[in-house]
Amino acid sequence: MTIGIIIAMQEEAKPYKKHILTDQEIYGKKFLIGKIADKDIVICLSGIGKVNAAFACALMVERFKPDLIINTGVSGGLGVTKAYDIVIADKAVQHDADTTALGDPKGMVSTVNKIYFDTSKKHNELIKAYLDNACVGTVACGDQFIADKRLASEIARQFNAIAVDMESAAVAQVAYITKTDLVIIRGISDGADEEAPVDFMSLIEQISQKIYEAVKKVIERL
Ligand code: ADE
Repeated sequence: MTIGIIIAMQEEAKPYKKHILTDQEIYGKKFLIGKIADKDIVICLSGIGKVNAAFACALMVERFKPDLIINTGVSGGLGVTKAYDIVIADKAVQHDADTTALGDPKGMVSTVNKIYFDTSKKHNELIKAYLDNACVGTVACGDQFIADKRLASEIARQFNAIAVDMESAAVAQVAYITKTDLVIIRGISDGADEEAPVDFMSLIEQISQKIYEAVKKVIERL
């Protein structure tokens, strides 16, 4: 079984170092190849943002044909979630997709004509059992680091979202198009409020270690 893991930042991928056997670069994206337990893993350091994440996911699917993709990394907490929480996304939405001026609902992605992208129900059931303290819900994604309490509340309200990030729904769109199973396991580093930049910078290493432990636990049991 091959598991493709898409992570935006080097800092978030640091805890996986001991599992890596070799690496490869494709169009400037680093792919780290290794093993966790008996599973082959390929980590792509996608870079931040939706285009980077979508491109990474397309390369991952084309070149490595993973049986499952895991998108992981830190997120901003919305309302019910707070720093150190682990989040399992059952759906991902692009909060910045906006063709409302043309009569579309907010968040609708043209060509696929969808607002919400589901993650793998089958895998989520297992993951929820392994990570019993995790918060489960919709994650919102856009090309914006949210550091504004009012904007964060608005995104939460519009999409009933429990966390915000900059990659998940772009990966979800590519997984949907390529019919690849996807799970999204993220950790909260900040409150997407005015303190978010400072909290993000100071907690990223610690939270990344916590998320890695959750992801490793899941991979070992898959
Ligand atoms: N990832 C971590 N924190 C975030 C935030 N506040 N906004 C967007 N992406 C994030």
